[in-house]
Amino acid sequence: MPKLRTTFVCRECGSEHGRWLGRCPGCGAWDALEEQTPAPGLGPAKAQTTIVEAIKGSLPRPRDEATTDGARPVSEIGDESEHGRITTGIGELDRVLGGGLVPASSVLIGGDPGIGKSTLLLQAACSMHTTDGPVDVLYVSSEESASQVAGRARRIGGNTERLYVLAETNLHRIAKEVQRLRPSVFVIDSIQMVFREDVAGAPGSVGQLRRCAADAVALAKSVGAAAMLVGHVTKDGALAGPRLLEHLVDAVLSFEGDRYHAARLVRTAKNRFGTALELGVLEMTPEGLREAPHGAGCISAQSLDDPRPGSIACPIMAGTRCVTVEIQALTATGFPGSVKRKCAGLDSNRLAIVLAVLEQHARLRLADRDVFASVAGGLRVPDPASDLALGLAVAGAQLGRTLGPRTGACGEIGLGG
Ligand code: TYD
Ligand code: MG
Repeated sequence: MPKLRTTFVCRECGSEHGRWLGRCPGCGAWDALEEQTPAPGLGPAKAQTTIVEAIKGSLPRPRDEATTDGARPVSEIGDESEHGRITTGIGELDRVLGGGLVPASSVLIGGDPGIGKSTLLLQAACSMHTTDGPVDVLYVSSEESASQVAGRARRIGGNTERLYVLAETNLHRIAKEVQRLRPSVFVIDSIQMVFREDVAGAPGSVGQLRRCAADAVALAKSVGAAAMLVGHVTKDGALAGPRLLEHLVDAVLSFEGDRYHAARLVRTAKNRFGTALELGVLEMTPEGLREAPHGAGCISAQSLDDPRPGSIACPIMAGTRCVTVEIQALTATGFPGSVKRKCAGLDSNRLAIVLAVLEQHARLRLADRDVFASVAGGLRVPDPASDLALGLAVAGAQLGRTLGPRTGACGEIGLGG
């Protein structure tokens, strides 16, 4: 029997090393190397078979048959993304996906635990359809039992007629069910809990995650179904193994928000079939997720009706959608010479410029004041159109004054003031 060699694989970039290191030489990430021992009794060749090869037999040839027949002129190659998109029934999600799911493509959705990923996908699974009508959806839950999922689907009031639920963590059995049912879409919630028996490591380890995700993508291609994979985020807020999985899938979405507020955001990190700038805004309600109306956003009604000094509503464009955010500022006595200038969700260079303009052109003395600014709700606003709201928030905080109720501000501030 050949000697089993232990390797160390980086959780972030997937590079392999012969010994443990505190910092990955490949990507520079700290404490990211994970020990990986090959499963005993499995030669490398056997471990390399993909799930699709393993359950061959009834498999059809991949949709795009010509991939094996050599090069062809572009005019003869159809564009799969342009026809047959599957609408999820949630307008905000469809827009972020670039107009719906593309058959045989794969989408990874990441987010904090408890933020509502399962709710979003289950709700979408209940209303998926094409122009020809509703489609079959297989919802594979590797975390919850089938009755839990079914109960939730009924509670959110979805149409469960064409929804199939499978509680399973073994990828082989999941693949078999996908082949048997031939759904148009299958969801794996979550990919971190799925494992292959012939790959070493616990579910969620680098080796398992990489193989299972690659197999799920290959499975989607081979049966012509769209795959939606749920991924958890790490403590730092990054998708576990981001660089490991990002290149495997066609689109990466992140589902964000504050668990204690209703607003939820769906954002694209990557999309091969649409723009990566889109943002979807949803609200968590007791009846599931609801699409937020255009222009609504991450600002509470109270902040709009009864603004406090240092709080300004600011409409910004995110992709093709307008979102209203709350920009907050606070000024406090600082030590002359070492005042603090901190911002969250805003560009610190823009803050410096706005403060300089306020000093020079608005005669506001801020040289010995600490200034803190943030966007409430966790949204990042790199847009210079937020300058005016930021300036008014800082001035309001400094002078203890507010704008009138239900008033917003937007506009770029030039160096001339
Ligand atoms: P869930 O989808 O289970 O989160 P994730 O899969 O991302 O871990 O959602 C969990 C939270 O959503 C839960 O704390 C309760 C809330 N929720 C509602 O407020 N309304 C609802 O209709 C549902 C289904 C969940
Ligand atoms: Mg879940």
